[in-house]
Amino acid sequence: MSRDEMSAAKNNENGRDHQLDRIVFIGRTYDEYRRMFRLHERNLVGRKILDCPAGSCSFAAEMGARGIEVVACDIAYSQSSDELASRGEADVAHAIEDVERNHDSYRWDYFGGVGALRYTRMKALNGFLADFRRTRTAELEAETEGGDGFPVDRRRTRTPANSGRYVAAALPALPFADGAFDLILSANFLFLYADRLDLAFHAATLRELMRVAREEIRLFPVVNFSGERYAHMDFIMRVAGSAGFEARVAPVPYEFALGANAMLQLTRVPG
Ligand SMILES: C[S@@+](CC[C@H](N)C(=O)[O-])C[C@H]1O[C@@H](n2cnc3c(N)ncnc32)[C@H](O)[C@@H]1O
Repeated sequence: MSRDEMSAAKNNENGRDHQLDRIVFIGRTYDEYRRMFRLHERNLVGRKILDCPAGSCSFAAEMGARGIEVVACDIAYSQSSDELASRGEADVAHAIEDVERNHDSYRWDYFGGVGALRYTRMKALNGFLADFRRTRTAELEAETEGGDGFPVDRRRTRTPANSGRYVAAALPALPFADGAFDLILSANFLFLYADRLDLAFHAATLRELMRVAREEIRLFPVVNFSGERYAHMDFIMRVAGSAGFEARVAPVPYEFALGANAMLQLTRVPG
């Protein structure tokens, strides 16, 4: 039996038939993040935040417009905006087919129906793309500011629009200094894709997130596509504990996929 067949059989035992053939490049809006991470805007002001991996989320763009600094990173950001646009559209379609196939394993009180879900995913993608294009253009202009076509020192040309908001990074390694971010948000990646990301990858990624986090990390959800709690959660929480973080699974006021209604919250213990 191939891995896909095994995964389908496992899904079916749970009444679910997920057939995503890849880790999709899709994204959420600020309103979804606000709920899935139990965020309050007043607690975000003045904090340096990392969204990782951010996919085509409009969170960084929406926060930037409110004057809150969010850096978004993703392995896909090494691609051009046109490539991300076509990949994003294809992956929204692929993800929504999967949701439609499993319609009854979702709660529809937030979206109302598939049309609103598609609208929201495209709103996030388009918000992300507009900001990604704008910041990348500003960076390019800044790099050639000398007028002679040669890049100039980027540190001298940094502006709010050219703050390195979108950073290409391949987990489990991040190109950031220790403690670079007050708060790290990580959604719909670890735990969810446990069928293709093994325990070693989870542990290495978690260690890297803890290295880069000054105060806190929030990860959503704590279940896989079948709604089952991540099998190695106790181990992951022990890893966090021995690195000086207090770990707890906390309920959140967001549940689209049934059972995906809690986050793992890691808080650095002072001292
Ligand atoms: C399902 S999306 C989640 C995006 C966003 N956090 C959300 O909740 O919508 C998963 C993302 O993980 C990214 N990804 C996959 N492997 C990665 C890796 N090794 N390092 C960084 N990003 C990765 C993909 O490009 C994709 O954008």
